[in-house]
Amino acid sequence: MIDPSTGTMEVADILVKEGRIAGVAPLITREGIPIIEATGLWVVPGLIDIHVHLRDPGYEYKETIETGLAAAAKGGFTQVCCMANTLPVNDTGAITFYMVEKARRVEGPLLHPVGAITKGQKGENLAEIGDMVDQGAVAVSDDGNPVMNSEVMRRALEYASHFDIPVVDHCEDKNLSDGGSIHEGEVSTRMGIKGIPSASEEVMVARDICLARQTGTRVHLQHLSSRGSVELVKWAKDLGIPVTCEVTPHHLILTHHAVESYDTSTKVNPPLRTEEDREALVEALAQGIIDCVASDHAPHSLKEKDVEYDLAAFGISGVETALAIVLKLVQEGRLTPMRAMEAMSTIPARIMGLEGGNLKVGQPAHITIIDPDKRWRLEPDSMVSKGKNTPFAGWDLKGKAVVTMVEGRVVWKEETLGEGGNDEG
Ligand code: DOR
Repeated sequence: MIDPSTGTMEVADILVKEGRIAGVAPLITREGIPIIEATGLWVVPGLIDIHVHLRDPGYEYKETIETGLAAAAKGGFTQVCCMANTLPVNDTGAITFYMVEKARRVEGPLLHPVGAITKGQKGENLAEIGDMVDQGAVAVSDDGNPVMNSEVMRRALEYASHFDIPVVDHCEDKNLSDGGSIHEGEVSTRMGIKGIPSASEEVMVARDICLARQTGTRVHLQHLSSRGSVELVKWAKDLGIPVTCEVTPHHLILTHHAVESYDTSTKVNPPLRTEEDREALVEALAQGIIDCVASDHAPHSLKEKDVEYDLAAFGISGVETALAIVLKLVQEGRLTPMRAMEAMSTIPARIMGLEGGNLKVGQPAHITIIDPDKRWRLEPDSMVSKGKNTPFAGWDLKGKAVVTMVEGRVVWKEETLGEGGNDEG
């Protein structure tokens, strides 16, 4: 059992009763109750992904709330936060209500919508933030788009402070990135593909830090990709400015050299950058300068990806591989198991103000069981998500969620689990 909320790592039984953790002890009497045998496995607080695109409503051909939640469960996630770039955009209480209701009927991982900051994500007028919060939105973000107008962003921060929610930002200066497809550097020059400079992210990271300082409102920065962004966040945190940030698994493991294949599944926004950037991101995650990992699960259909690189949609379908990629860093000795689980559960819960992220008695039984030694090959055809757009196709991975439990209900279970054992629960 690994519980980053208390720093404990021990061998124990966990008793689950009426959807809650009812006991944690070295040996709990097992008679008469269903048992999940987890000897040799890691039992951790249910993983939480605070950045997914479920495409529902409007783009159901890419993903639906049902398929997205099923994919998240298979990836070990017990709670996810979905972005607002749907059709219509989630900028009203009615759309937030639709998402919450649909997810409730699925009975999979819990879904927490992130409402838009601005109406239609156009960056001009504030969305109905209060109504969305009333219907269950846990934060606001125009993700997919930045809020380019700093005055609008300032008003959003001031307004959001009334609801005690973070304002979550996709940091990109569109004037600098416009028309680019990959990181601006040696690879973009050689390939003749227009680049996106690191500065397009960094100037907005710097702006958001200044606005967080000005307003005192919590800002969470999404999918950081560059060394410069890490340096700015470190500076802000040293000054006590209320800023948190995330990194994706793909930015932790791939660089712009992956793009040399012309495989459009490597096209993502922000783009994969240099080895120096990747190294800075891994180190910052290990040190806690980067708070957490989030997949930026961005499923697309074949018709949007099976085209020339320039024309392809940005995004990686990532919720089913996030855990294995993070575990790769654990296997390489770059992250401890405790820090990895903290970054995938305890801290995400804190950032979004969610229950969970710990294994304390009395808390909801959101639990993930991980087999850290399980070897598997990623075959896109066997992915549950409708989006098969992954740069990890054919990769041999080690480590997998074998049970995902939400409020005591098993929402995902690896078929081979408990073979020859007494698992009934
Ligand atoms: O690559 C990306 N895809 N980055 C984003 O910010 C948006 C996302 C999407 O919605 O496809």
